[in-house]
Amino acid sequence: MDFGAPHSAISSPAQVTLLREDLDRQGKRLVFTNGCFDLLHAGHVRYLAEARALGDALVVALNSDASVRELKGPSRPVNTEEDRAEILKALRSVDAVCVFHQPRVTGLIEQIRPHIYAKGGDYTIASLNPEERGALEAVGARIEILALVPGRSTTATIKRMGEARGPEEKTAPKLRIGVLGSGEGSNFQAILEAVQGGGLQAEITCVISDHGESGIMKAAQAAGLPAFFVDPGPNPLRFPDSAQKEVCEHLKRASVDMVVLAGFMRVLREPTLSEFADRIINVHPSLLPKFKGSNAVQRAIDAGELETGATVHLVTAEVDGGRILGQAVVPIHIGDTPAVLHERIKREEHKLLPRILSEWKPSSMATCP
Ligand code: GAR
Repeated sequence: MDFGAPHSAISSPAQVTLLREDLDRQGKRLVFTNGCFDLLHAGHVRYLAEARALGDALVVALNSDASVRELKGPSRPVNTEEDRAEILKALRSVDAVCVFHQPRVTGLIEQIRPHIYAKGGDYTIASLNPEERGALEAVGARIEILALVPGRSTTATIKRMGEARGPEEKTAPKLRIGVLGSGEGSNFQAILEAVQGGGLQAEITCVISDHGESGIMKAAQAAGLPAFFVDPGPNPLRFPDSAQKEVCEHLKRASVDMVVLAGFMRVLREPTLSEFADRIINVHPSLLPKFKGSNAVQRAIDAGELETGATVHLVTAEVDGGRILGQAVVPIHIGDTPAVLHERIKREEHKLLPRILSEWKPSSMATCP
């Protein structure tokens, strides 16, 4: 039975719904899974075979090219959705491939009403997207989490391909940066401009904010970068465990090499601190160790300081207490308001932060005290 258009391996949701109804009549079960499946590897093949073995037919919901870009950054997918679908469809385990364009697969779940939903072991039932989980429960689908095959991933494959190139074609791998911010996003913009201008060999693979409408979110979206809002909950002084976990999952999924807190006004804690130990930096508007914590600009004026500045430092469990990587001094003028002084400090931050990033040597940082 062929569920694709003549020259396409992609089935429409309506075609897959027919397949499900057909299976229903025979008392058989449809398994549903979803993913990007860019650069198929042995881990994918084994995972899909296991998913197929849970029922009698398997449909793969494939992220569209635009949604892969949103999740993984502008350099992905390596293969187009048409090609990815064709390769998947050639597998014995795969009966149909659908492409979905929305960030979530909820609509397809509701339409296809699969009997079983399979997901890779980088998720737990608790960490499934609540909207998708709700849709699965509403259609009565059984959720099965399948163990991932260790050491097999598209990102690892791409890395190995880079390493396998001849010396003449080798270029330094680009640093993959995740940026967290809460406000205007001028520091994010400075990093982005350094990347775009070629002064910083890096790519921003993930932007996260605790404010859906913040300047940093809008700037990231305008630049076509994957931007994620993480709901901080109602208490402005708390960033709850669920949000802390969500941040870490986004960063891991975007395979970031390092994390930059660029005006992130929440305290970052576990699991990100351990997962990215010695690879998280923060920019702070004072000459640390002076004026740690909030309102640093106002407090420098109130203290009658003649100068303050900007600091970039490693992030540890002690707020604003990690090793200092660089500082810039900024004079305080008579009559400065906090807003005026903060703008002067930011001008220095916009030079300091990209410079520290361009000098970033992960291994040497990790061994420093
Ligand atoms: C920056 O000045 C940064 O130093 C500060 O927030 C501002 C963000 O500006 N960070 C902190 O105070 C962290 N304790 P931006 O959103 O325009 O980049």
